Amino acid sequence: MSSVDRPVIQLVGVGKTYDMGEVKAEVLHGIDFSVDRGEFVAIVGASGSGKSTLLQIMGLLDRPTKGKVLINGIDSSKMSDDELADMRGRNIGFVFQFFNLYPTLSARGNVELPMMIQGMPSGERTRRAREILRSVGLSDKEENMPSQLSGGQKQRVSIARALAMEPALILADEPTGNLDSKTGQEVIDMIARLGKGGNRTILVITHDRHIAEHAERIVEIKDGRVISDRKNKNRRVVER
Ligand SMILES: Nc1ncnc2c1ncn2[C@@H]1O[C@H](COP(=O)(O)OP(=O)(O)O)[C@@H](O)[C@H]1O
Ligand SMILES: [Mg+2]
Repeated sequence: MSSVDRPVIQLVGVGKTYDMGEVKAEVLHGIDFSVDRGEFVAIVGASGSGKSTLLQIMGLLDRPTKGKVLINGIDSSKMSDDELADMRGRNIGFVFQFFNLYPTLSARGNVELPMMIQGMPSGERTRRAREILRSVGLSDKEENMPSQLSGGQKQRVSIARALAMEPALILADEPTGNLDSKTGQEVIDMIARLGKGGNRTILVITHDRHIAEHAERIVEIKDGRVISDRKNKNRRVVER
């Protein structure tokens, strides 16, 4: 079987308990679901339901305390931390609510960083960073520092950074949570376009029903469990 036949990501009985000494908080309870190549999935649920914890685990930023996560059919529980970091760097792009840009690097420097970590030569990564920044409409802001960018521009830089290694999987945690509604809409449209017609898989955690409207599939989490997983029949499709 080739990797194309397998789900991009598969969670099998994933549980997570945070151990805070005296107190243990069981945050995820036996989560099973898988995402196919090219799918655009929204994960919705109330604050505190475990969405960010789930995204950290799917993104190999944290390990489950029960169950396992398969990426392209490969069991991540058997991998070392270094192997996980490498797998993550090559296959997964992240977009966060608070952007998580390096304040001391320019927009271009932030986009180049993941490529630098993967050992891409400097000329190639600069050329590529410029090209991606152009594709998100930020050619004129390349040399700006994050503090010299608006919220929407920062999020576009972070989308550009997520795209740097051409990852098969993009994970976004409340990407519009810190933006006004107009800017948020632009960012949503950009994320929705990323998934169009390609092999790229997109998972977005959101409170924002406009984002959920764009997704092909909506997974609802409540108290650390999947309570519904359905196709989005009323999907809004963005045109290029
Ligand atoms: N690192 C952590 N240590 C202890 N508890 C945590 C940690 N991260 C999250 N939690 C708890 O796990 C629960 C789920 O949090 P989270 O995954 O952030 O939910 P959501 O993203 O849906 O708001 C919350 O009760 C939160 O307080
Ligand atoms: Mg969260």
